[in-house]
Amino acid sequence: MKDDARRILDLNWKDGFTIPTKNLYPFQWNWDSGFTSIGLSHYNLNSAIKELNSLFSGQWQNGMVPHILFHSENEKTYFPNFDFWESSVNKGAPNKPKSSGITQPAVHGFVIENLLNKYPDDQHLISFIKDIYPKIINSHRFFYKYRDPLNEGLTFIFHPWESGRDNSPLWDKALDQIKFSQNDIPSYERRDISIAPAEERPTSYQYDRYVYLLQLGKENKYEEIGIFEESPFLIQDTLMNMVLIRSNESMIKVGKRFGLDTGELEEWQQQSIPKFREKLWNEELRTFTPYDLRNNEQIEFKEIGGISTLFANIPSQKQAKDLNNYLISLHDRGFYICPSFDVDSPLFDSKRYWRGPIWPQMNWMIYHGLENYNFHSTAEIVKTDLLELIEMHGFYEYFESQKSVAFDLSKGYGGNDFSWTAACALDLSNII
Ligand code: GLC
Repeated sequence: MKDDARRILDLNWKDGFTIPTKNLYPFQWNWDSGFTSIGLSHYNLNSAIKELNSLFSGQWQNGMVPHILFHSENEKTYFPNFDFWESSVNKGAPNKPKSSGITQPAVHGFVIENLLNKYPDDQHLISFIKDIYPKIINSHRFFYKYRDPLNEGLTFIFHPWESGRDNSPLWDKALDQIKFSQNDIPSYERRDISIAPAEERPTSYQYDRYVYLLQLGKENKYEEIGIFEESPFLIQDTLMNMVLIRSNESMIKVGKRFGLDTGELEEWQQQSIPKFREKLWNEELRTFTPYDLRNNEQIEFKEIGGISTLFANIPSQKQAKDLNNYLISLHDRGFYICPSFDVDSPLFDSKRYWRGPIWPQMNWMIYHGLENYNFHSTAEIVKTDLLELIEMHGFYEYFESQKSVAFDLSKGYGGNDFSWTAACALDLSNII
């Protein structure tokens, strides 16, 4: 398993950064790179460092780290490509590498802490961390300065792709409310469904809305003031805010070790954590839910973003116990844990993208979250379930969550030879 994981990371290495998988995702993706860096650090710390440096070479002047960096402008197999995003409409976007105009979960703070824990005295790593530290703070500042106009300590997203969980049913209602005629969006050709089976990917109805929101961002030069006023999709997401809080915590620890100023990070934490607990907790569902700022309501579903809050120490002991019991009940009912969406909802689809399958990087975070609360045996299941799926089906992008169905399949879903799958497998299988 470990040798195969290394082989895949080497296969996807493009001389300075790693693509998630060839064909389907041929560029550098933001949070994928974070997990990949953790995987690389097991056998090549130098590449792990290069991976993050390469990602931050695309950071915008406003601090945003884009969700995709198009290091090569000759690669034509992806939609929406650099020319469709036109990041140059924003004056603070670097000319090279070209990028998308949205962001993704801010994993890099906890990634550097992870590397430092592995190599606490490595001088090359230490000088890299001192160099990237202010850049990561700046990327967090972007969220608080531009994505939190209500000053709540909670950041908003204006596109489902920012959440990392592209077509989760969480976003269905907000996307349904987007009214437009076909003339309002440019014509485009999807590339993903010629590479992966259409029934594992978002529908064209959803894709039109993704393009609509992209266009809205572009028309506003990807500037938050206009986006906040105009976007019909404006959501304070659980996973997005959880990751930011977790990375703040890591950055405080790393900063303290080197005697750096952590005051701003601590202020953010003091506001964000209580607000998250108060605004996003849903007593009836006994989980945390995203909040829709346009409709002024919680998005009431039980899904993986709520569970992942364990990773940032957000739930109280009682709440954590409920989340743990929920995971155990899914295990007892014959599911791999943790499915990405509520298995009892009519919207659950164990095969389609974020609507039910198992995702490797989510298992990685939830494993550590359960460990935080000393739920060691559930953490062990989350880890071995993922490793079993990989053993059985290969290093796919995501996997079937119903055991009875998975046993009859010969492969996983989406792209194969996937970088974060390899990275998470490598990291988790090194934990005894
Ligand atoms: C999909 C996932 C997103 C990921 C990207 C590259 O868009 O939803 O989270 O970053 O693929 O792997």
